[in-house]
Amino acid sequence: MTVPLIERFRDRLPVSAATPVVTLGEGSTPLLPAPRLARAAGVRELWLKWEASNPTGSYKDRGMTLAVSKALEEGAGAVLCASTGNTAASAAAYAARAGLPAVVLTPQGAVAGAKLAQTRMLGASVLEVRGDFDAALGAAQELARRGTHVLVNSLNPYRRAGQKTAVLEIVEELGGAPDAFVLPYGGGGNTSAYAQALAELGLDTPIVSVEAENRRETLATAIRIGDPVHAAAVRAAHARVLHVDDDEIVSTWRLLAAQEGLFCEPSSAAGLAAVLRGDVEGDRLAVTITGHGLKDPAIADRLAATPVEVDPDPDAIAAASAARPAS
Ligand code: F0G
Repeated sequence: MTVPLIERFRDRLPVSAATPVVTLGEGSTPLLPAPRLARAAGVRELWLKWEASNPTGSYKDRGMTLAVSKALEEGAGAVLCASTGNTAASAAAYAARAGLPAVVLTPQGAVAGAKLAQTRMLGASVLEVRGDFDAALGAAQELARRGTHVLVNSLNPYRRAGQKTAVLEIVEELGGAPDAFVLPYGGGGNTSAYAQALAELGLDTPIVSVEAENRRETLATAIRIGDPVHAAAVRAAHARVLHVDDDEIVSTWRLLAAQEGLFCEPSSAAGLAAVLRGDVEGDRLAVTITGHGLKDPAIADRLAATPVEVDPDPDAIAAASAARPAS
């Protein structure tokens, strides 16, 4: 089996021999060269860190393996998070694996259906909060203060410690730092985790964090967060914050699928959208693709080419397929 993230990076993580390792085989994700997109962006080397290949389909699993392992070690009775969907699914999966109950607070009506289905299947109690993500996170923090549930949002330092391993993998695989790390910016937990890794490695590689221009309304529901809880940490990390609008997110998301064979969820394309606009300096860029496209099939269904009905006849099929462009 894939070496668990906690084992691979044991000497760099806050674990001991007594920590139970709750793993689903997270981390060690592909780092894929993207020469065609590099040409389109006018950079020499473009590397895509394909975090969708984590067990629940997003990078959240890197932090969740550690947060849930530590919660178990510390005798937690239950874990709790607020989420736009991916943290929810990850918390639910690792809690199930640990035999702990999970409570998930979601902003009502603002979570991709497949993420909810995934989280429900994994046995979490899903509570739809009448309010946005910020309201749900505020409520989760208040409840966690009572001591009955361990908060496994990225405010939990173990989450960030686990998530920093993406940078360790990239630097190890490239044999050194890229010119910049580029990633989407929702709440900022991942930016903060990347900054932590760079500080520990003694590197001053720039981080470019890309947020939706309209944070409260973006179609990229994963990063629909009005008030990023790690904003101060993002500033302290001197991350460069860029904005992309929904049209840029969608066109980049389609390009990633059509040109590289990577079907991610729209939010995951935010970083690359800024790179393609020419706003990120450097000749060798590492761009993190955070979550899987199957997490949000409704938007793909709405925007991708529709199937053509055809009889089971080779001539008709040949004619119909020739008439259709590749993308
Ligand atoms: N990409 C994806 C796929 C996400 O799910 C998230 C955040 C981000 C990027 C942004 O990362 O918050 O660390 O700056 N998702 C959270 C959730 C909010 O609840 O799943 P960030």
